[in-house]
Amino acid sequence: ATSLASAASAKGRYFGTAVAAGHLGESAYASTLDAEFNAVTPENEMKWDATEPSRNSFSFGSADQIVSHAQGKGMKVRGHTLVWHSQLPSWVGGLNATDLRSAMNNHITQVMQHYKGKIYAWDVVNEAYQDGSSGARRSSPFQDKLGNGFIEEAFRTARSVDPNAKLCYNDYNTDGVNAKSNAVYNMVKDFKSRGVPIDCVGFQSHFNSASPVPSDYQANLQRFADLGVDVHITELDIEGSGSAQATNYGNVVKACLAVSRCTGITVWGVTDKYSWRSGGTPLLFDSNYAKKPAYDAVLSALGGS
Ligand code: G3I
Repeated sequence: ATSLASAASAKGRYFGTAVAAGHLGESAYASTLDAEFNAVTPENEMKWDATEPSRNSFSFGSADQIVSHAQGKGMKVRGHTLVWHSQLPSWVGGLNATDLRSAMNNHITQVMQHYKGKIYAWDVVNEAYQDGSSGARRSSPFQDKLGNGFIEEAFRTARSVDPNAKLCYNDYNTDGVNAKSNAVYNMVKDFKSRGVPIDCVGFQSHFNSASPVPSDYQANLQRFADLGVDVHITELDIEGSGSAQATNYGNVVKACLAVSRCTGITVWGVTDKYSWRSGGTPLLFDSNYAKKPAYDAVLSALGGS
């Protein structure tokens, strides 16, 4: 196999990237995307501020561009994200609990309906837990006004709208075993025991020197898989360069391949040129779309060459 997509596919996995609609017209961007990846996640275009900027007024133009590009190339689409405290238009924060509940369920319903049948997996709820040792929920309009039950409610609504989409909980700093991942683990365990619909957990995997690839990464993925959910590496990027970065990338891929329910990996961007880490070089292609040592390490870990 000579591309990330074909090598991952030979291992029964997808290999995806975050995509920004605004770059699809750049030929090097599109040709790299099409040659190397078989899954996409809209980087910003499906977020609440983009899809429902004012109440019950939906706009899907730029997300549709990404979905139709992906469909034309036979790529999977990960929907990102339905319920998140960030990139949330201010009108949502102004609602009382009753209105917020109906707005949340309406948002999930309208967005999932629009893409019904076209989405492999949805990040239904994103980043609902705090960092640090408390294992507590993060303050957000949803948490503060609807209480702990908002996540369950979001997943139940999502299942009712598109029963064929996999429903994921997605978070960062949950990649190793720690207080935050323990809290998510306990939530997933509780959901599975009570029949709350959840199919997958996304591990964002944004790594840098302050937050390196954890030594218990594989063990952490495995303990979630053992609860009966798929695990997805959803937003992988690793700061650094050269052989150190390449080694880290290779280790992430090996960890996923060692966990049979780790069904795919998504990197958070095609090229360093457009990484959200401005000035950083955390991705597999440099700003001229040349393959980096990290690319070679990923391809080789996937069994390609
Ligand atoms: O759309 C406006 C544009 O109109 C304006 O001219 C421009 C000027 O700043 O800003 C544009 O919005 C930016 C948007 O990206 C689109 O480019 C926002 O300022 C900027 O904050 C936003 O950043 C995104 C970030 O999420 C926001 O939370 C990054 O692109 C995106 O990579 C990042 O992705 C998140 C995941 O969704 C969740 N996990 C963490 C990950 C990294 O932060």
